[in-house]
Amino acid sequence: MTKFSSTTPIYYVNAQPHLGHAYTTIIADAVSRWHRLLGDDVHLLTGTDEHGLKIQQAADAKGVTPQAFADSIAPLFEQAWQRLNITHDDFIRTTEKRHAVGVQKLLQACYDAGDIESDVYQGQYCVACEAYFLEDELENGNCPIHHTKTTYVEEENYFFRLSRFEDRLLKWYADHPQAITPGFRMNEVIGFIKGGLNDFSISRKTLTWGIPLPWDKSHVAYVWFDALANYITALGYGTDEKAFAERWPVDYHFIGKDIIRFHCVYWPAMLMSAGIEPPKGWAVGGWLLVGGEKMSKTTGNVVNPLDLIDDIGVDGFRYYVLADTAYGNDGDFTYEGLISRYNSDLANNLGNLAARIATVVEKKCGGLGPKPTLDSPLAQVAATAVSETKDAWAQVQPSKALEATWNLIRATNSHLENNEPWKMEVGEAVDRVMGDALEALRIVTILANPALPTSTQKIWSRIGLKGSITDLRIDADTKWGQYPGGVTVVKGDPLFPRKTA
Ligand code: ME8
Ligand code: MG
Repeated sequence: MTKFSSTTPIYYVNAQPHLGHAYTTIIADAVSRWHRLLGDDVHLLTGTDEHGLKIQQAADAKGVTPQAFADSIAPLFEQAWQRLNITHDDFIRTTEKRHAVGVQKLLQACYDAGDIESDVYQGQYCVACEAYFLEDELENGNCPIHHTKTTYVEEENYFFRLSRFEDRLLKWYADHPQAITPGFRMNEVIGFIKGGLNDFSISRKTLTWGIPLPWDKSHVAYVWFDALANYITALGYGTDEKAFAERWPVDYHFIGKDIIRFHCVYWPAMLMSAGIEPPKGWAVGGWLLVGGEKMSKTTGNVVNPLDLIDDIGVDGFRYYVLADTAYGNDGDFTYEGLISRYNSDLANNLGNLAARIATVVEKKCGGLGPKPTLDSPLAQVAATAVSETKDAWAQVQPSKALEATWNLIRATNSHLENNEPWKMEVGEAVDRVMGDALEALRIVTILANPALPTSTQKIWSRIGLKGSITDLRIDADTKWGQYPGGVTVVKGDPLFPRKTA
C-alpha cells in the first residue's frame, strides 16, 4: 500500500491558535484526506512547540511555570483541531518524554559526527522568531518579520557547523529538483545556500527551559533544534526505530514561508549529519495577511478561527481557506471576502444544486432518485473534473482542485437550467435529466469530501446513498454511472444558508 505521511509545523504555545495556524493545518488535513480516498496508508502529524525563551517569557508574564503555561495552552490547539475536523494521527508536545529521548539521540549523533563544536556567539536575536539575525538582515535595527527590536546576545554556545553542508545540500537539491513545492520556493532556498551558510548556535546556557545537551548538561538545546526534531521523534526516532523506519522520510512537511530556512536548510543538514535521510518534500504556503501585514500573535492582528466557524460553519471555513488562495501565494483575509466566497460557491452553487435536485425529485419523480443514463454529456464533464481534481491535489494545489470540482457543479446546474425539469411532465424524460444530475452530484460529494467532510456526507445520505464517503476510493467510485436509482431522496434543511456580511 502506498504510504503518505506529512506534518504541520508544531505551533508555539505562547498564545492561542489563530487563523494562520488553522490555514496550514487545514491544508495538511485536506491533502491527507484526499490521500485516504486514494487508498493510501496516511499519517498526519501535528503538535506544539513548548520550549525556548519565548515560552519562558510568556509564562513569566503570567507568573506561572513554563510547564504549567504550556499545559494550559496545548489543549487549546487540540480542541481547535478537533473542532475544525482535523484528522491528525498524532499530536506531539515537545515536553513529552519520547521527544526528549529522540532529541538527545539526534544531538549526540551530530556531536559524534564532529558537526557540533563549542564557540562564542555574539549577535542579534529575535525572541518572537527564536532566531539569530545578522546586522544586515535587520530593517532599521528591527526584526524583518515582526518589526520589533532584537536583543544583543553574547554567550558561549555549541554551534552546528552548517557551513560544511553547502555542497552536500546543493547536491541533494540538484538530485531532488521537485522536493519543494511550489517550485519558485526552491530557487529561494538554492539562492540562500549559494549565498554562503553560517554555522548556527544549537544551545543556550542562560536558559533552563529546554532539553539538556547529553554531553554538557549546563546547556539546553536551542529551541529550533529541539522543535525540528519533532518530525522524527514522533515517528519513533530514539524510542521505536522500527516504527520510525516505516514512516520516515515523510512525503511533505507543510510549513509557512516564514520558516523555510529552518526547514529547507538547517533541517536537512542536521539529518545528513546524523546519517538520516532528508524528508521527501516540503509544501510551503504563503501568509494570510490582514491589512497587508502577516497575521501573527506578535503583531497582534490575529483572527480567531473559532469565531468564524460560529458564523459560517466548519465546512464553510475550511472551504474558504482551501479555495480562496492559490497555495504558496500570500492571501488577504477579509471578512467580506469570506462571506462572498461562501455565498457564491457554497450557498449559490453546491447548496443550491443539492436543494434543487431534491425538490424536483420530490415533485416529478415521486421522491425516488432515478438511475443515470450512460451516454449523458455530463459523463465527460465528470471525467474531466475527476482527472483535473486528482492532478491538482497531487500538486498540493487545493484551490485548483476545488475549481476543477466546481466545474462539475456548475455544469450540473447548467444541465438543470437548460432542461428545466421543473417544467417537464412526470415521465422518462424528466427521470433522465434527474438521474444524470444525481450521478454528477454523487461524484461531486466524493471529490469535495476532503474539503467539506460533513456537508458532503450529508448530501450523500440525502440522495439516498449508504455508508461513509471516507470508505470510498477515487478511482473506482468516481466512474460515471454508479448512482443506483430507486433510492429515496430527501431535501433537508439548507446546507449553506446565505449570509450577509
Ligand atoms: O514558527 N498565514 O510556530 P508558530 C499563514 N514553533 N500561515 C501562518 C500565519 C499566517 N499569517 N501565521 C502562522 C513556529 N502561520 C515554530 C515552528 S516547526 C518545527 C516549529 C502558520 O506558532 C505557518 O505555517 O509561529 C507558519 O509557518 C506557522 O504557522 C508558524 O507557527
Ligand atoms: Mg511565528
